[in-house]
Amino acid sequence: MQPETMKYSRIAGTGGYLPEHVVTNHELAARVDTSHEWIVERTGIHQRHIAAEGEMTSDLAAAAGRRAIEAAGIEASQIDLIVVATTTPDLVFPSTACLVQAKLGLENHCPAFDVQAVCSGFIYALATADNFIRAGQARCALVIGAETMSRITDWNDRGNCILWGDGAGAVVLRASSQPGVIATHLHADGRYRDLLHVEGGVSHGMQSPSAVRMQGSAVFRFAVNTLDGIVDETLEANHLQKSDIAWLVPHQANIRIIQATARKLGMSMDRVVLTVDRHANTSAASVPLALDTAVRDGRIRPGELILMEAFGGGFTWGSALVRWMTEE
Ligand code: ACO
Repeated sequence: MQPETMKYSRIAGTGGYLPEHVVTNHELAARVDTSHEWIVERTGIHQRHIAAEGEMTSDLAAAAGRRAIEAAGIEASQIDLIVVATTTPDLVFPSTACLVQAKLGLENHCPAFDVQAVCSGFIYALATADNFIRAGQARCALVIGAETMSRITDWNDRGNCILWGDGAGAVVLRASSQPGVIATHLHADGRYRDLLHVEGGVSHGMQSPSAVRMQGSAVFRFAVNTLDGIVDETLEANHLQKSDIAWLVPHQANIRIIQATARKLGMSMDRVVLTVDRHANTSAASVPLALDTAVRDGRIRPGELILMEAFGGGFTWGSALVRWMTEE
């Protein structure tokens, strides 16, 4: 049982992992009818990392997880919950989280499961682990967002192959007497499958190959409006002013969507963590990878308030409001 005082969670360490191989816009332009300039102007993306043949989502996830465990200064054996957000699992089953548990050499029988909310997956996974800790069912959770989006990318579809990248980001979430994770807000609206989906799947008979199909401009408009709403909801529900937020750590889908959210918050872009230029859209990995980047380069300081938000297929969307406090 959790001591009564340890009823909140805080992020104790972060980690990230990007595959070695980088594909530039110029390389894509040699393959489909596009240009570096068009991609940068419409998305902000310059390059993306792509997993090597045989490199699986669970490999990326385990690498990011190990770095988060190291940053948190804990032993892997202290982990008592693993939640992996992914849209691109290695297998139908076991879950990627179970594969990660084995790769980390954990033999403590802690629960491990995947969460599927596409690009909002990490926010969903963080909310899930935070609730486990608040309920006293976990004390030290490993929460990972990991994707090999390159495996569901149609490299001949210029309208969306330019967007995706592979990677993983992770946090160690520990029980705390004060709220590091102050609040999470989650939503979904399942009516928009036609705008963003991947055909195929077990119940559909595993058509192959399947790839992301997206009506880009419609998704774009929906994302901007929805993220506007989640910003308002998060500020109002937690009695905050826009100026209370020190850092926006957004899902890295498109710089123009991020700029719209920053405008909504009245925030200058130097308070927004941007990785979309180098990582592209790594779906569930994008928020924890961005967080890890800004924590490691020292931008995010103890005591600061961070707003993380994401929007993705489903549609799903959500936010996490976090006070940065790596120490109890
Ligand atoms: N290079 C050059 N021209 C292109 C390219 C390209 N790569 N792709 C499309 N075009 C052309 C189109 O054919 C179109 O030409 P036309 O006017 O002659 O018909 C023109 O550019 C404009 O196309 P749009 O689709 O309207 O372009 P838009 O400015 O909307 O940019 C993009 C496309 C980048 C995909 C954008 O819509 C976007 O980012 N959408 C949101 C993506 C997103 O946020 N997804 C949600 C999360 S992802 C998840 O959950 C899995």
